[in-house]
Amino acid sequence: MIVRKSRSELEKMRKSGLLVYEILQSLGAMVQEGISTWDLEVAAVKMMKDAGAKPAFQNYYVPAAGERYKYVLCTSVNEEIVHGMPNPKRILKSGDIVSIDTGVSLNGYFGDSALTVGVGEVSEQTKKLMQVTRDSLELAIDKVREGGRLFDICGTVEEHVVRHGFSIVREYVGHGIGTQLHEEPQVPNYVDKRNENPRLREGMVLAIEPMVNAGKPEAKVLKDRWTAVAKDGSYSAHFEHCVAVTAEGPWVLTRP
Ligand code: MF3
Ligand code: CO
Repeated sequence: MIVRKSRSELEKMRKSGLLVYEILQSLGAMVQEGISTWDLEVAAVKMMKDAGAKPAFQNYYVPAAGERYKYVLCTSVNEEIVHGMPNPKRILKSGDIVSIDTGVSLNGYFGDSALTVGVGEVSEQTKKLMQVTRDSLELAIDKVREGGRLFDICGTVEEHVVRHGFSIVREYVGHGIGTQLHEEPQVPNYVDKRNENPRLREGMVLAIEPMVNAGKPEAKVLKDRWTAVAKDGSYSAHFEHCVAVTAEGPWVLTRP
């Protein structure tokens, strides 16, 4: 069942969404050669604390990993797709890209967003990977409208990414969001005909999160049981926004 939110619930999600936005903007601005992914984690913990928000990822149980996640951020560098773990030994260097993914809950309502930033000088191909991934999310956001269908969103991401010669990660998907971090429906970045194709209705909120590999689509999980990487070692980009269906069109809760 897809839970629809009232206007006042959407306003609450808006507050968490904007906090996640502020946090990601600050972290994005910190990214430079020589800092570690742990430095980002420390800053995020402080910002959440100062705002009186609960981290959404810390202590979140992920069945595939068989344990709770320990950090407030996922920091996935280069060929890491998602669920990279902040680490003081992971020092960012020029040419790297880092996906920063985080979520909070405020008054019981969740926000979740991610962006990918380049460190120093990044290759043209990698810039293109980030731009195509970001554009695929923007095009999908445009499809979040009353009376539309879930597959419009999935298909829009897929079509844009494939047209530019990159590949869609299939093992990880977007999701509904509200009083829980992950709600129905799943939002794959490709049309999955095994799933239903529900109509989009006012009050639904979707976390759309394209994960795109520069090379082949296959992913594998490292021995740490969390870090998902591109099997072929190619770079991977990730952007995410929470988007509500409203009578006035898509409402991106995770940016001003
Ligand atoms: N990045 C995932 C998402 O956006 C959630 C992280 S799972 C956790 O849905 F274990 F890190 F919390
Ligand atoms: Co998400």
